[in-house]
Amino acid sequence: MSLFAIDQEKCKHDFYCVAACPARIIEAVDKDAVPQPIAGAEELCINCGHCVAVCPHEALSLKTMKPEQCPPARRDFLPGPEQVEHFFRYRRSTRNYKDEPVERGKLSRLIDMARYAPSGHNLQPVHWLVIEDSNEVKRLAGIVIDWMRWMIREHPTIAAQWHFERIVGAWGQGLDRVLRGAPHLVAAHGEASLPPAQVACIIALSYLELAASALGLGACWAGYFTTCANNYAPMKEALALPNGHTTFGGMMVGHPKLKYQRFPLRNEPRITWR
Ligand SMILES: Cc1cc2nc3c(=O)[nH]c(=O)nc-3n(C[C@H](O)[C@H](O)[C@H](O)COP(=O)(O)O)c2cc1C
Repeated sequence: MSLFAIDQEKCKHDFYCVAACPARIIEAVDKDAVPQPIAGAEELCINCGHCVAVCPHEALSLKTMKPEQCPPARRDFLPGPEQVEHFFRYRRSTRNYKDEPVERGKLSRLIDMARYAPSGHNLQPVHWLVIEDSNEVKRLAGIVIDWMRWMIREHPTIAAQWHFERIVGAWGQGLDRVLRGAPHLVAAHGEASLPPAQVACIIALSYLELAASALGLGACWAGYFTTCANNYAPMKEALALPNGHTTFGGMMVGHPKLKYQRFPLRNEPRITWR
């Protein structure tokens, strides 16, 4: 098969595939003929599957994606806008975790849900590192504390701005204010030289945080960890990412200890209408 094949019998010449293709590589040559790939289509295709997904007649198959492999988009299954807003407001940053692990199947499901996040040019450049072992999570939190101690010595003004003294002090008293005693840490990483990788990792982590909330799990962005991972050699060594990869974000995950009864208020949006 070339890039895509169109079933002559099934095609109704509505040209939805032509309209949906973001790269404009599907051409309606004749109103009574099936659409054709333009010259060089193979190189331009971003494999997003919109052409397959938009066709109501299951007429178009990509070399990489057939209609029967793509689950139907069920509108009757969607939450309404009030439910979506409620869900967004319901999500909380979890900083108190039960002392029990999350089963691997649930951690995998989180990542499986997060992989539907959008990415520039559909490159899907996100890689995941799951620190499943809670002792290893604790060791990484300790490395962040070492980095904070170094910052306090070498960059006292920045360290004071971020109240590192307090976080290090709490650690000395057995309180983990870095990874909050979470049993697991999920880091999203990708090739540093690939421009869409950073944004893709951050969006995917946002999806993962929402997925955690939907599964009754708790999650919290691990900002100190991420900054440390990008600036402190011992943390880079501990994470041992592939060559050329950067940690673009981290998320603590576990079973939440607290239940929130109300939604906290947030600022009104600052909007400029033009
Ligand atoms: C990029 C980013 C980094 C964050 N880093 C941390 C962190 O290191 N530790 C922490 O406890 N919370 C962290 N947070 C959570 C924020 O403090 C939290 O989102 C904010 O207080 C609002 O609370 P909510 O998420 O429950 O609405 C981070 C959030 C973001 C988006």
